[in-house]
Amino acid sequence: MLEVTNLTKTYRAGLARRKYRTVVRDVSFAVMARETLGIVGESGCGKTTLAKMILKLLKSDSGRIIVDGQDITGLRGVELQRCRKNIQIMFQNPESSLNPRMKIHDCIAEVLRVNHIASPRSVEERRLISGLADMVGLQPEHLNRYSWELSGGQVQRVVLARVLALRPKVLIVDEPTSMLDVSVQAQVLTIIRQMQQEFNFALVYIAHDLDVIRLMCDRVMIMYQGTIVERGTREDIFERASHPYTRSLLGEFYLFDPGTSTGCCEERRSEPGDWPSYGGCPYSAACRKVLGRCSEKQELRQISPGHHVACCNAESPFPSSVAGPLPVG
Ligand SMILES: Nc1ncnc2c1ncn2[C@@H]1O[C@H](COP(=O)(O)OP(=O)(O)OP(=O)(O)O)[C@@H](O)[C@H]1O
Ligand code: SF4
Ligand SMILES: [Mg+2]
Repeated sequence: MLEVTNLTKTYRAGLARRKYRTVVRDVSFAVMARETLGIVGESGCGKTTLAKMILKLLKSDSGRIIVDGQDITGLRGVELQRCRKNIQIMFQNPESSLNPRMKIHDCIAEVLRVNHIASPRSVEERRLISGLADMVGLQPEHLNRYSWELSGGQVQRVVLARVLALRPKVLIVDEPTSMLDVSVQAQVLTIIRQMQQEFNFALVYIAHDLDVIRLMCDRVMIMYQGTIVERGTREDIFERASHPYTRSLLGEFYLFDPGTSTGCCEERRSEPGDWPSYGGCPYSAACRKVLGRCSEKQELRQISPGHHVACCNAESPFPSSVAGPLPVG
């Protein structure tokens, strides 16, 4: 449903903006209908930049984006507008996509009108709006309020209703619930999952919260400084994580044996945002033991079916001592 190949984005950086910083580098992945892919990585690793490129809100330097069999990489104008219906996003700050001067009814109606789904003020429009509100768990009275008169969870539901009105083929969710408390977060996520079962869209779920990723996602992709360092099924990542960065994300204190050549991360030596300027492993600045081959470019390689790791010292596969059994459902 969504296929991304070698997407790359470089920004100008530094005070004089004379330097260049590649924030997304050669990212490739695919997500099928009804499948959920989680993208995890520390703040600033390029997750939102990647999402914006897929949405074509940001121009990529190179790479290809295919949605529902159509190559949208070079699309512009009306053609792009038409295909945008198929790929939707819920951003980190959802309230920013709602006009504070419009009532909720009109916020949802706006999407139906702009996309010629229903005629303005028609019976069909009212029917669709109340159906969408019901679907996402909004009360009829909420439709008569402004966005600033709703709670964070209710705003999320409005944004979801607007997205579902378009029946997208691909939905990208960029940590919409991180500002909400856990129970509200769970409710919104449950609705997204139910809607995915009903409308069969491919879901790309971007988050810091590993518990949410573990609960929501079929496959998981770990990003570090703009590159994919590990990719696999939920079980590959939570039970057989191989990349040192993934293992440190999972909270494991990862000791290495100085007598072997396979151990690596004992502790972090760099802070997020220290971007290496060389072509070797991006994690080497944080790895305790850096071996000769770590200074070479680390390509993703398959260590078991569907499980890819970009580390020359990845061991295949070994159990993680921190991850417990997967949650049911
Ligand atoms: N317009 C821009 N010009 C220069 N650098 C930018 C620009 N937009 C983003 N960046 C930088 O690109 C990097 C990736 O940003 P991005 O927003 O994609 O990170 P993220 O993984 O979504 O982080 P978070 O988890 O905090 O949302 C960051 O270091 C950011 O400072
Ligand atoms: S390639 Fe080397 S530096 Fe990079 S994560 Fe693996 S062991 Fe650590
Ligand atoms: Mg972001």
